[in-house]
Amino acid sequence: MSESLLSTRSVLVTRALVPEAMRALDGGCAVDLYQGPPEAIPREELLRRAAGKDGLLTLLTERVDAELLDAAGPQLKIVANHAVGFDNVDVPECTSRGVLVTNTPDVLTEATADLAWSLILACVRRVAEGDRFLRSRRPWIWGPSMMLGYDMYGKTLGVAGCGRIGQAVARRATGFGLRVIYHDPVRLSEAVERELNVTWCPFETLLAESDVISVHTPLLPQTRHLFGADAFRQMKPTAVLVNTARGPIVDEPALAEALRAGEIFAAGLDVYEREPQIEEALLDLDNVTLLPHLGSATIETRTAMGLLAVDNLLAGITGKRPRTLVNPDALR
Ligand code: GLV
Repeated sequence: MSESLLSTRSVLVTRALVPEAMRALDGGCAVDLYQGPPEAIPREELLRRAAGKDGLLTLLTERVDAELLDAAGPQLKIVANHAVGFDNVDVPECTSRGVLVTNTPDVLTEATADLAWSLILACVRRVAEGDRFLRSRRPWIWGPSMMLGYDMYGKTLGVAGCGRIGQAVARRATGFGLRVIYHDPVRLSEAVERELNVTWCPFETLLAESDVISVHTPLLPQTRHLFGADAFRQMKPTAVLVNTARGPIVDEPALAEALRAGEIFAAGLDVYEREPQIEEALLDLDNVTLLPHLGSATIETRTAMGLLAVDNLLAGITGKRPRTLVNPDALR
């Protein structure tokens, strides 16, 4: 493809990527970059600026649906989502129009598993609560019963959804001397189960036997509110729930109530049902640790994600097969 033909393509990038990824776009196409306030691009502006574009580089904050695809027009070739999750994209609608959809898997697996573990330890050992306590400037003295958490060693970790990230979380459990059980509709091969030292179990067993549950399922109709009042009642009162996947998998008002009533010990959340809004009741609870969706937020990982998303975008607008295509059927 000649340079001049390439540069006639135009793309919308809905938020500035890390500088290395922005540089990778240079010369590849005409770039329309949304540089508004830190909030997501307003819907009306997204619809307007998508018009006539060959490619869209979207974040998880943008809803990609029939309305947006209509607004973009029939020349749209690719939606390159800058996230491993693509629940913000109506994939069947894209496929039916021959629009490619890509995500950024693999490059963020280890960083996200590290963050899940940060939340696990923060909850089990009350790390963030301790920090908040000292910052409150209240008087304190070391005491045998002060701010007790639980031992991690010898406990049971339950992995809800054992894909790439769930497996990376399970792999880290060895050093903590944990037994690891997992639930996933797709069972791992015996070889992988053996290598990771994990055992499949029904969802009810995961709820009843886990001391810590870490959530790693995609958001699907079947996983929406997978963790609600009924699930919390089946968990141990000493259990911890950590969600680094997608907010709507957890029913937030029900979680706040379970934490308040002592139905479970603590929770760690990186994602929210109505992101970026946080359920008000959670903000008042000490036994929940809240992070602003930092799962993949490391310099190395965000650089790799940005470069992969750009690579996918440039491939898509020039008729090549992108590296991490979600909907191969769109090529037919
Ligand atoms: C982040 O949440 C992602 O899906 O990459």
